[in-house]
Amino acid sequence: MSSNPTPVIAIDGPSASGKGTVAQIVAEKLGYHYLDSGALYRIVALAAFEQDIHWEAEQAVAKIIPQLTIQFEHDEIYLNDANVSEKIRTEQMGQGASKVAAHPLVRLALIDLQHSFRKAPGLVADGRDMATVIFPDAETKIFLTASAEVRAERRYKQLINKGLEADYQAILKDLQDRDARDSERSVAPLQQAHDATLLDTSHLNIEQAVNHVLQAIAATQQ
Ligand code: DC
Repeated sequence: MSSNPTPVIAIDGPSASGKGTVAQIVAEKLGYHYLDSGALYRIVALAAFEQDIHWEAEQAVAKIIPQLTIQFEHDEIYLNDANVSEKIRTEQMGQGASKVAAHPLVRLALIDLQHSFRKAPGLVADGRDMATVIFPDAETKIFLTASAEVRAERRYKQLINKGLEADYQAILKDLQDRDARDSERSVAPLQQAHDATLLDTSHLNIEQAVNHVLQAIAATQQ
């Protein structure tokens, strides 16, 4: 056990695996805090975009991070007092987030902020490197995934249900590109921690996935 005993449940996995929804429900059920680390990379991508800074420009992107005031309030996310909850969820910001997240200086600049979410009674942390890099002493580590086809299908249905246009093949290709970039980068790549439990949700609904995570947590607490 580290000097900070506050328990952390780390849930990592690829885009559109459902880990965000599952992590949020688990946090609510346990009365724990919740960290959506992907939102931080999305905010950095948005801030860079709004300041005309190229996502590829590592030093310039990393430099703006200390100037950002980021607040999570209930389900809303604020950047310098502006509600950016909707703006950061676009496909464009998802791709931007994946690009800025490949820079070591950007990842470094976000470490302390992520650690600050670890508060009593506990934290559910959702991302790509929660178990491997940010909270390696997490009490429970879950690698939550689903096949690319199932993830693309889920995202396709979400868009159609919102009345938006969607192209399944384009969605699948974007997901595969993002998976490749997130898994192949040199720093903190998306990978299953050696001590994480693998949870494939391809054939599970949200409720079943939540129950599997709660069971894994109960098993580690015994
Ligand atoms: O979970 P998400 O789709 O909101 O994440 C957006 C991007 O941010 C994702 O493509 C990779 C990056 N990311 C990361 O590198 N490390 C994390 N802990 C979380 C997200």
